[in-house]
Amino acid sequence: MRVEGQSFRTVWIPEVGHSVVRIIDQRYLPFRFETADLRTVEEVAVAIRDMWVRGAGCIGATAGYGMWLAACEASATADFSPAFNRLAEVLRSTRPTAVNLSWAVDRQLKVAADVSDVFAKVAAVRSSAVEIADEDVAACRSIGEHGLDLFRDISQLKGSATVNVLTHCNAGWLAFVDHGSATAPIYRAHDAGIPVHVWVDETRPRNQGARLTAWELGKHGVPHTVITDNAGGYLMRAGQVDLVVTGTDRTTYTGDVVNKIGTYLKAVAASDCNIPFYVALPSSTFDWSARDGLTDIIIEERSGDEVSSIEGLCDGVETRVHLLPEGSHTANPAFDVTPARLVTGLITERGICKANEESILGLFPEKKLS
Ligand code: MRU
Repeated sequence: MRVEGQSFRTVWIPEVGHSVVRIIDQRYLPFRFETADLRTVEEVAVAIRDMWVRGAGCIGATAGYGMWLAACEASATADFSPAFNRLAEVLRSTRPTAVNLSWAVDRQLKVAADVSDVFAKVAAVRSSAVEIADEDVAACRSIGEHGLDLFRDISQLKGSATVNVLTHCNAGWLAFVDHGSATAPIYRAHDAGIPVHVWVDETRPRNQGARLTAWELGKHGVPHTVITDNAGGYLMRAGQVDLVVTGTDRTTYTGDVVNKIGTYLKAVAASDCNIPFYVALPSSTFDWSARDGLTDIIIEERSGDEVSSIEGLCDGVETRVHLLPEGSHTANPAFDVTPARLVTGLITERGICKANEESILGLFPEKKLS
C-alpha cells in the first residue's frame, strides 16, 4: 500500500548483505509514521510481544524473518540446531493466540532441517521468509478478488447505492504484509468504483480500529466513520449496515472464529438482524488441529493497563491518561470466540466457503485429517 506516495509492506529486508529486518512500527500510528530496524531475535520478540507489529499475518511474516535472524545467530554458535530450536521457542512464546506465529516458526524449522550445511540453512531460511511474506501478499490479494463479488452483489441489490460494511479491529494491510484480509475486498470494491462506506469499530482497549483501520482507509480514500464498539448493534437494527466483515487470529477447521475481543457480540447482533457476517482469512490462519474454538485455543490475557488507561494526543503531544477509580480491578481478555453457527461465510484465497468442516476441507482437501 502507499503512504505519502511511497509503496510499503509492513515488514521487509531493507539491505542485501545485512541481517536486518525493517518493520512499520505501529505503536505510533496514526500520529506518526515510523519504521524500526530489528537486528536480533530478542528485538523481534519484543516487537511482536509489545505490539510494534500486530495482526495475524504480520506477526507470522515477522516471525518468518525473525527465524532468519535466528539462523544467523545459531550459525555463529558451535552447534546450530540446539541454538536454532531455542531461539524458535523465544519467538513462538511471544503471543499465544494468532496461529500464524507458530505456523511460520514451524515452517522455518522444517526448512532448516531439510538442509545439511549450516550456511545453506541460513540462506534457505532467508528465502523462505521472503516466500512467507510474498504468499501472504498473494493470499490477501485473492481474498480481495473473491470478496469483491459479495460487494458487487449487494451493490446491485441496492441499485448501486452505497454498500455499508462494518468491521472490527484492524484486519487491514497493517495486520498483514499488504492488502489486509477484511479490508482487501473493501479496497478492491472501492477501486472498482463500487460506492463503499465503512463503519469502523474503535476496538477498545487498544483502539486498533480508531487508530489503524481509520488511518489506512483514510490513506486509500475510502469513506469511513469511526464508532464506539457499542454502536454497531443500534446501526444494524436501524438498517445502516449491509454486511459485517472481520478478520481472525485463528479459525478452527470446523469454522469457529477467534478474533479481537468484541467480535462475538457483533456476530450475535448481525444474526439477530439477518445481516451477513463474513470472516476473511488466508489459509495460514486456520488451525488444522483445533476442533472447538472455546476449549482448544489459548486466549491471550493482556495487561490491565490497557483497560485502565488510554493513549491519545493532547495539545499535539502523545499522552497516556488514567481512567479508573483507585482500587478498581481490571480484566483484559484480548480475543473472543464466535461460534461457526453465527458466521455466514469465510473468504479465503481459494474462494468463499461455509464455516463448517465439510465446506472448509472442500476448499483445502490436502488438509483432510486421516
Ligand atoms: O492483538 P492484535 O492487534 O494483534 O489483534 C489481532 C487483530 O488485529 C485482530 O484480531 C484482527 O481482526 C485479526 S488479525 C488479522
